[in-house]
This record gives sequence, structure tokens and C-alpha cells, in this order.
Amino acid sequence: MRVKAYILFILMSCVILGGCKRGIDSELQTTGQSENKRVYQNLVVGFSQLGAESKWRDGNTASIKKTAESLGLELIFSDAQQKQENQIKAIRTFIAQQVDVIGVSPIVETGWESVFQEAKDAGIPIILVDRRADVPEELYATYIGSDFTEEGRKAARVMAELLGGKGNIVELVGTINSAPANDRYIGFREILQDYPEMKIIASESADFTRAKGEEVMRGFLEQYGDQIDALYAHNDDSALGAIRAIEDYGLQPGQDIIIVSVDAIRDAFQAMIDGKLNATVECNPLLGPLFFETALKVVNGEYVPKWIPSQESIFFPENAAEILPTRKY
Ligand code: AHR
Repeated sequence: MRVKAYILFILMSCVILGGCKRGIDSELQTTGQSENKRVYQNLVVGFSQLGAESKWRDGNTASIKKTAESLGLELIFSDAQQKQENQIKAIRTFIAQQVDVIGVSPIVETGWESVFQEAKDAGIPIILVDRRADVPEELYATYIGSDFTEEGRKAARVMAELLGGKGNIVELVGTINSAPANDRYIGFREILQDYPEMKIIASESADFTRAKGEEVMRGFLEQYGDQIDALYAHNDDSALGAIRAIEDYGLQPGQDIIIVSVDAIRDAFQAMIDGKLNATVECNPLLGPLFFETALKVVNGEYVPKWIPSQESIFFPENAAEILPTRKY
């Protein structure tokens, strides 16, 4: 009898202690103390967004803010309003605030080395989101975003197909010295080398905006008028601005002037449905989930590759109406 009671006592102690241990473990998980691993709830992230120049950018900002909210982490968000000096200031403020990670979408490629070095010296990792910066690899943890050169190549291949390998092209370049403008410019020309009868007759920056796209296209039309066979726009917003200029000029966008652009925003799908845009090469702005997942890994010392590329496709008018309702930006 005494032996039975003893065994029962031992068993009950195990159950109670086990329960307590599980309780402590789950408490540590949420407070992030288990094996010193950090969790979203105690992560502080600074994010320097470059501005709000396009619908693509709006989608990108929304993805970052909404994901931060749903994960329950602290996000300190700063909008640089298209100025590199504002981004540099924001990064310095994040360093002073001792955030855990800094995310940055650099407006231009150059001029980041010293501020990134300051972050490194303070032990704060930098994650490049959407745009690359021209700095040594040891100054950032990873780059999450697109292969902009490939986007330029894709646009050129589609354009070659649509033009039958022959025609005069005008180009609306993105923000001068930005990674997407530099790379989309290069990628497009790379493919054009195989098409000697496809010529770029004018190329100017439209700064990734609708207003500039319209203004620059008006200039192209004044100068070249009917000689223009096609437009390559580095983003949909500038193409949509150009479409207004083409219509005002009395030509039919998508027919008299073939148009290929980049991004695949919802408005581009509508333009394809309306017959005014011939193709859009996708560039994915919905980087929030991947960014925070990567940020947590970096803070916890886990391996991340130097580049986490986005998966992207190309869209055409044929199935634009079917796809539009599924588009999130
Ligand atoms: O960096 C991505 C580019 O920036 C998008 O193609 C453009 O729309 C945005 O402004």
C-alpha cells in the first residue's frame, strides 16, 4: 500500500512539473528568451522608404506596414520624399535609437558607404529592400528584390516580338542613378543587340512618375511625331502618363504606338483591357513578409543568402481581365 502511494506521488509530481515546464517554455517563446532567440514581439525595425512616387511604391509601403502590424513587431517607418539626404538622416536616427535591424530602399545606387559603415560599427544589420546599393557586400546582410536587368531583357524580348524586330523606340527611363533605371536600361539594350533594325531614337528620365511620363512623352511626340513606333517605359506609372500625351496628340496608344512597361500594377491591367498597353513585365512590391522573416533570421544569427530574388512574370492584354481581380497592388 505504501509503495503504491509512493508511485502515485512520483507520477503526480512529474505531471505537475511537466506542466510548469511547458508553461515556462511558452512564456520564454513569447518573450524571446528561449535559447536567447528573438521573436517578432520584441523586434524593433527601422525602415527608410524612398518616397511615394508610384502606385508600385504605395503597394510596397502598404505591404511593409501591414505585415509589421500583423506580426506585432515595432516598425519605425520613415518616408524620405525622394531625397537621399533624408534617407541618410533616417538611418542615423535609427542607429541612435538602437533598433535591431534597418531596412532601406535606396533611392539611388551610390553614396551609401559611410552611413552603412556607421550602422555596421553600431552592430545594426542593414537589409536592402527592393533596390540595391553600390557598396561592398560586408556592409549589408542581404538584398531582397527583383532582377531589374532581367526585367529590361524581358521587356526587350516582348517588344521585339510585337514590332516584328523593326521600329523606332522612345524610352522613359526611371529615376537617374537608381538601380532599376540603370539595370532596366542595360538589360533592354543587351537584347536589342540582336535586332539591328530596332532603334532607340530618344531616351529621357521620367522619374517613375505619371506627371513626368506625360511631360516627357509630349516632348518626344513634338520632336518625332509619327516616326515613333514604340514606347519602352521603365514603369507603368510613366507609361500611363505617356498614354495621356499620346491620346492628346491624336494617336492611339497600344496601336499606333506599341507600349511595353514594367511593374504590373492594377492600372496597367486596366490599360491593357482598354487596349492602350501591350504588355507589362512584373516587378513584385509585396516584400513585407519576406523582409521581416529575413530580419528575424539575421538578428538571430541564422544564415541568409546575399540576394533573395523575387519571382516575376509578364502579363498581356489577352488575359488581363481575368487576372485583374487577383492583383494586390
Ligand atoms: O524600385 C522599383 C521601382 O520603383 C518600380 O518599378 C517603380 O514603379 C518604383 O517607383
